[in-house]
Amino acid sequence: MNTDELRQRLEFYQDLGIKTLYRRTVIERAMPPHPQPPAVVVSLPTLEPKQDSLLNILADIGDCKRCRLHEARHKIVFGSGNEQSKLVFVGEGPGADEDAQGLPFVGRAGQLLTQMIEGTAAKEGIPIKRSDVYICNVVKCRPPENRTPQPDEMEICGQFLYRQLQAIKPKAICALGGTAAKALLGVQEGVTRLRGKWHSWHDIQLMVTYHPPYLLRPYNQNAKKEAWEDLKKVLHYVYD
Ligand code: URA
Repeated sequence: MNTDELRQRLEFYQDLGIKTLYRRTVIERAMPPHPQPPAVVVSLPTLEPKQDSLLNILADIGDCKRCRLHEARHKIVFGSGNEQSKLVFVGEGPGADEDAQGLPFVGRAGQLLTQMIEGTAAKEGIPIKRSDVYICNVVKCRPPENRTPQPDEMEICGQFLYRQLQAIKPKAICALGGTAAKALLGVQEGVTRLRGKWHSWHDIQLMVTYHPPYLLRPYNQNAKKEAWEDLKKVLHYVYD
């Protein structure tokens, strides 16, 4: 395994939350079997730099070509908003408008997300605007035809989402839709089972709600009400 492959493998472990690997010392055949040498803990150099920052992460992403999504992208969509926010929204991946502007949730679904955040906050007497929260996606490049990102794409890009969330360390995360929920929680259940309840991502409270593009479809109006309820819970938890 060369250094790059090793780094990728370690980053994958880190995405899974594994920070320490254990290796038994090699016992030479000639050594007497007793007493057994103690297991040696190999503490890996942490792959997220000690003082990680969004700027560092952006620099590490660079002109990323780590997966096939780079082939058709126009702009990498890293994330936007308040970098010290107590609340981070995580979507699935950029669409056409986001790909053109390099910003997350700027198309129709983005307008709905803005309304959801600002409308709910205003109704609940919580003085925040969209610019007070941080918004990003699981994958940073637009999947062709807005298809769902594939597992390997999410795995590769997931290291950067992991670092973004660790660098911001919000009080809560709101996963927008099943793909973000599955990527963050590592579960297979769909959004209808996961939404409206608190989960945990590395000791940070995580709420799942619907994906805004899903809420734009006229036959999903009931889901819209549920999404508003989910958001109310999140905003009160974070800002009360
Ligand atoms: N726009 C985004 O940035 N992400 C989504 O998941 C959907 C639309």
